[in-house]
Amino acid sequence: MKSNLHAIPSHFLICPKCGATPSTGLDLNTNQCNSCGTQFFDLSGIPCWFANGIEQKSIWESTLGIMLAQWQENLEGQKKDYYRKDLIPPVRERMQHLIEANENIYATVGNELTTSGLNLNTDRDNAMDPTIFADYFDLLLRDWGWQENKDDPPENKDALARVISLIENNDINKASSILVLGSGAGKLSWDIHQYFNSDATIAIDYNPILLLFSKRIIVDQSSFKLADLRAYPQKDKSLAEIVELAPPKAEKELRETWYALGADVWDIPLAPESFDLIVTPWFIDVNGRDVRELIALVDTLLKPGGHWINTGPLLYMDRVPYSVRYNFDEIKSFIELSGLVFSEERIDQVCYLKSPLDKRMRQEEVWTFIAKKPQAKKSKAIKGFPPPWFVMTYLPVENIQLRDTQSHPVIDKIKENIDGKRSINDIAKIIETDFDPGCDCVDLVISIFDEFLLP
Ligand SMILES: C[S@@+](CC[C@H](N)C(=O)[O-])C[C@H]1O[C@@H](n2cnc3c(N)ncnc32)[C@H](O)[C@@H]1O
Repeated sequence: MKSNLHAIPSHFLICPKCGATPSTGLDLNTNQCNSCGTQFFDLSGIPCWFANGIEQKSIWESTLGIMLAQWQENLEGQKKDYYRKDLIPPVRERMQHLIEANENIYATVGNELTTSGLNLNTDRDNAMDPTIFADYFDLLLRDWGWQENKDDPPENKDALARVISLIENNDINKASSILVLGSGAGKLSWDIHQYFNSDATIAIDYNPILLLFSKRIIVDQSSFKLADLRAYPQKDKSLAEIVELAPPKAEKELRETWYALGADVWDIPLAPESFDLIVTPWFIDVNGRDVRELIALVDTLLKPGGHWINTGPLLYMDRVPYSVRYNFDEIKSFIELSGLVFSEERIDQVCYLKSPLDKRMRQEEVWTFIAKKPQAKKSKAIKGFPPPWFVMTYLPVENIQLRDTQSHPVIDKIKENIDGKRSINDIAKIIETDFDPGCDCVDLVISIFDEFLLP
């Protein structure tokens, strides 16, 4: 299961399924958890540690196989169109340009995936929607390919400058261990790693294409060519160009302490209180969960005294209910309730993902803030709000005077488990065994507190 594994230092790692550490069953030599039996895998040396273990590999194999098959089908359609008898020569020329660009993308990505150790197939039984991986293609081009030119804002440089402004204003001179959640094509995580000359930066993402190319560029220092293809005609602009994605210049030691990690942040294989700095770039709104859960995750993983820097817009996905499309002040309140200290913020209107081939521009409102986890963190009540542990369900439930209620097995079990240490999430896990799988026990515990227990 091991092939030139770019192994992450063992003290960071835990089993994403059962939480075992290297001293309680996690075997880093065999890439396996002896405590729960989960077998992990790697892709071109990138450790991929998912709670469903090797099954994730087979999900990727079919999802990416289907993605490539769809691309090939589109390509065949374009080639057929190329030979239509009614085409005027300029249209045929444009089609040829388009076909060449698509052939480049198909070959470059296909080659990277097949040589990584994935056995691609088109088995639909366990496949995901391939657009989840294909949608972020421009990140690779922006991070490593698009040259700065006078007409376009230098997006990567500006993103780093926003982060550094908060680092400097808050006198952070050292960050030995850095974690970037949803690191995409990797440039910002690399730039921050380089800025601090950190001992270890872990860049997590669950997109295998971005993981493979970012590791190849940063760690392996290998360049490649990828077509930048625009969907619509623009006056005096080419439809597509082949762009060289070039590795950053850096010492071997620094490159080798930047680690790509294939994982789902919601089953994160990393030990609590491991990081001096956690960065969430363009992630708070697109990770599929309630922002409060992200705050819980960050709080859990930060060392006391560590910092969290968020940067990106609040552009929640369409399927996110309005009640959890939190605004700036609401998120600040959650941070305060959790006991992290919100220290500075800035809002910038920035140009986003503008290719040199684009005339159109997409503008985003980017919120960059920094919060600190104090050495002795204490959750903070806010006047007029429910108690912190009721809103931030990962915090310990306080020993409070409960309402007198009739005895009921579930209510009694909840009451028995209030010990000043367990949170609503912990209690939900304990009562989970009494309910059908699929029951949202956190919601249930919240409702029981609300209806029967809170004074
Ligand atoms: C909008 S992109 C931002 C990428 C990068 N941070 C940037 O600024 O260019 C969000 C990234 O988060 C990743 N992502 C989303 N949910 C994730 C999860 N649950 N676990 C790991 N990665 C996730 C996506 O694959 C994607 O690369």
